[in-house]
Amino acid sequence: EKDGYDTFMEKEINDQPKAVEDTLLGRTDASGRLILDELRIDAEELKGIAKIIVLACGTAAYAGMVAKYAIEHWTRIPVEVELAHEFRYRDPIIDENTLIVSVSQSGETMDTLMAVRYAKEQGARTLAICNTNGSTIPRESDAVLYTHAGPEIAVASTKAFLAQITAAYLLGLYLAQLRGQMFTGEIQDILADLHKIPGKIQQILDNADQIKDLARAMADSPSVLFLGRHVGYPVAMEGALKLKELAYIHAEGFAAGELKHGPIALIEDGQPVFVVVPSPRGRDSLHGKVVSNIQEVRARGANAITVAEEGDDSVTEFSSTVFFVPETQPLLMPLLATVPLQIFACALASEKGYDVDQPRNLAKSVTVE
Ligand code: BG6
Repeated sequence: EKDGYDTFMEKEINDQPKAVEDTLLGRTDASGRLILDELRIDAEELKGIAKIIVLACGTAAYAGMVAKYAIEHWTRIPVEVELAHEFRYRDPIIDENTLIVSVSQSGETMDTLMAVRYAKEQGARTLAICNTNGSTIPRESDAVLYTHAGPEIAVASTKAFLAQITAAYLLGLYLAQLRGQMFTGEIQDILADLHKIPGKIQQILDNADQIKDLARAMADSPSVLFLGRHVGYPVAMEGALKLKELAYIHAEGFAAGELKHGPIALIEDGQPVFVVVPSPRGRDSLHGKVVSNIQEVRARGANAITVAEEGDDSVTEFSSTVFFVPETQPLLMPLLATVPLQIFACALASEKGYDVDQPRNLAKSVTVE
């Protein structure tokens, strides 16, 4: 059942090309238009949505953060993302024009379920992005968009995360199509790029040795920081979470722009800092800003380990190690940039002799509040 891998986690990391591919499968008609039949929510109702709130916990919440960037950009519908357990207790503003999008691998996380129930009581429409057929959250939601990652056994989520992000992109593009927000050709171009992602993930997996070697060399690190910007920010948070969960190393993910507002005080000689570098082809000169952040931490003695787009040689001179990932549209980058960070955490934890499938104190699905 582990397909020859030592652990479920390694198997699931390697299942990711298929998880993304299967989540994309069968979601367009012959003319290339998105069809999300299974949504069970009236198209007219979806057209009237004035606000989206994404609710989730843990890794799924980082998928939700990625969703916010993409859905807002493509649909111009305001999107909030909130940890499900915080949402319920803050007297949130919701009505029948609010679409609640829950994200959950198991569909059984109690915090997320309770938040969805609360939102329903307040009159919101609810849509579940979920990996488990017939589980409680999709059963109690008005609509469901299943991820097709297959069963995820390792406690720390990997392939479900990429599948959740993929499903969120599909939802965003579908809403944009429905509301006439984007040209059909534009949507088709993005879908075509999404279909190329599985092959690109495979390229990263085929070059995993470089990442595993670094992980082994860094097994004694007491603390690792992760920086990212835009969609690279949730990727940084997820990279840090994986390292905490699996390797019990103190790790934090920051928005790179926040560095000078506090976190830079943590930088001292030898501090490892992962930096998720935006595409140099992206908008708003984000790339240049992140390269400056790398220089800032380096100037204070940090070891910068960068995840950058293939061909982006501008980071090489400032990095102790660069992991190159294939190019794609800036918004789709998390589907690639996350993978080296997963491999890194898994390899480092294995090097320390930890049980990567069942980390201490954690449960795959937390069914208590
Ligand atoms: C945590 C798991 O307890 O629950 C994480 O350890 C997971 O891996 C989180 O991301 C949310 O779970 P789910 O099933 O709602 O996606």
